[in-house]
Amino acid sequence: MQTDDHNRTPDNLHPADVNGGDALERLRPHPAHPSTEAGARRTDARGPGVELTVVVPTFSERDNIGEVVRRLSSTLQGIEWEVVFVDDDSPDGTAIVAKSIAARDKRVRCIRRVGRRGLSGACVEGILSSAAPVVAVMDADLQHDETILPEMLKAIHEGADLVIGSRYREGGSAAEGLSPIRRWGSQLATRIANTFMGSQVSDPMSGFFMLRREIVEKHAAELAGEGYKLLMDILWTTGKSLVLREVSYSFRERFAGDSKLDALVTFDYLGLLFSKIFGGVLPVRFLMFGAVGVSGIAVHLLVLQYAVSILHLPFAWAQLTAIMVAMTWNFIVNNRLTYRDARLTGWGFARGLLLFYLACSIGSIGNVGVASWIYSFNATAWVAGLAGALMGAVFNYAISSALIWKRK
Ligand code: GDD
Ligand code: MN
Repeated sequence: MQTDDHNRTPDNLHPADVNGGDALERLRPHPAHPSTEAGARRTDARGPGVELTVVVPTFSERDNIGEVVRRLSSTLQGIEWEVVFVDDDSPDGTAIVAKSIAARDKRVRCIRRVGRRGLSGACVEGILSSAAPVVAVMDADLQHDETILPEMLKAIHEGADLVIGSRYREGGSAAEGLSPIRRWGSQLATRIANTFMGSQVSDPMSGFFMLRREIVEKHAAELAGEGYKLLMDILWTTGKSLVLREVSYSFRERFAGDSKLDALVTFDYLGLLFSKIFGGVLPVRFLMFGAVGVSGIAVHLLVLQYAVSILHLPFAWAQLTAIMVAMTWNFIVNNRLTYRDARLTGWGFARGLLLFYLACSIGSIGNVGVASWIYSFNATAWVAGLAGALMGAVFNYAISSALIWKRK
């Protein structure tokens, strides 16, 4: 238990504590000796509730839902399980299909989220909706081999906290389900993650894993909840405190439908990495927005140089041109990258661009104001300038997230 126990009132009790010692007892790793007292208690304490919740994030996976349920029921015989589809209001009616199955089968549930997108966030929400001691996360497209679930659960019963379905461990493979370029990217990301975390996990990018629910309950607020790499986020957040196991499997081809992840996920990954390095204070999206801003400065200087020395424009005009080009550049890149889950097209694009110009203008007035104010306290010029720029960036980001790229 945490050291702040004495501060706990019924209002700030951790959800994992609610059932008191009994629930914790049930969630704690027990050695796998069925004949010993611990083993016997574990079986008794398991009770009539669900033992394993399989969380399946979905976005436009209508044609895979029935097959997922069929395969889970055949592979999980003898285990009290349920599946939760967490759907981000897919346009293809995935939630309707899942709920129609749920209406007939009480092992099936569906959470429909409106106005939100994101794989990690959806998984966290599904996990937190569970009351089972153990939860698994698995994709809906059956690229993950569901037949290793019983082996993963056994590893948990044997004392593991987190079991990772691995494509890169001996016996596993990614050849079938990943293009060579994504396989290369995935392995590079794995090496970077292990270097930063000081770990030796063979597949920290895996989207297929099982863990004790109490871990996510405890760390829910620290998880970034953004992007696609929930497992890496969990590994990073919990540090070296978990007992890990890996079970290898072959990453298969999709059953139906198309992948939702594009090559740009690399940027989400870098964003998550930096966010974690900064202790999680800065949201992934803000970091991406900031990186685009920095690229805008480079564009600005290039255009300025070109306008002055090749086009021979008067400096003020050259500077104005450079500002307009840089703002437009930032808008387009943010639209393609930072906010691609709420990408603007047509009239929405034009309206967004005008709003963006306006936000940048107001932001730069604020920038100059803050910088001058700080400078008046005898701060050095670069400190004042940096503070002003930071204030401008935060303002632009706030307007962009709240008013320009709103998710429908
Ligand atoms: N709720 C929700 N919201 N689900 C989503 C979203 C979203 O915004 N985006 C994708 N999903 C669901 C998909 O419907 C699918 O069930 C699962 O997340 C994985 O998406 P895919 O589009 O199939 O991803 P992938 O096969 O390219 O990538 C998988 O493998 C990677 C490892 O290379 C995922 O498991 C990644 O997490 C994993 O890192
Ligand atoms: Mn997939």
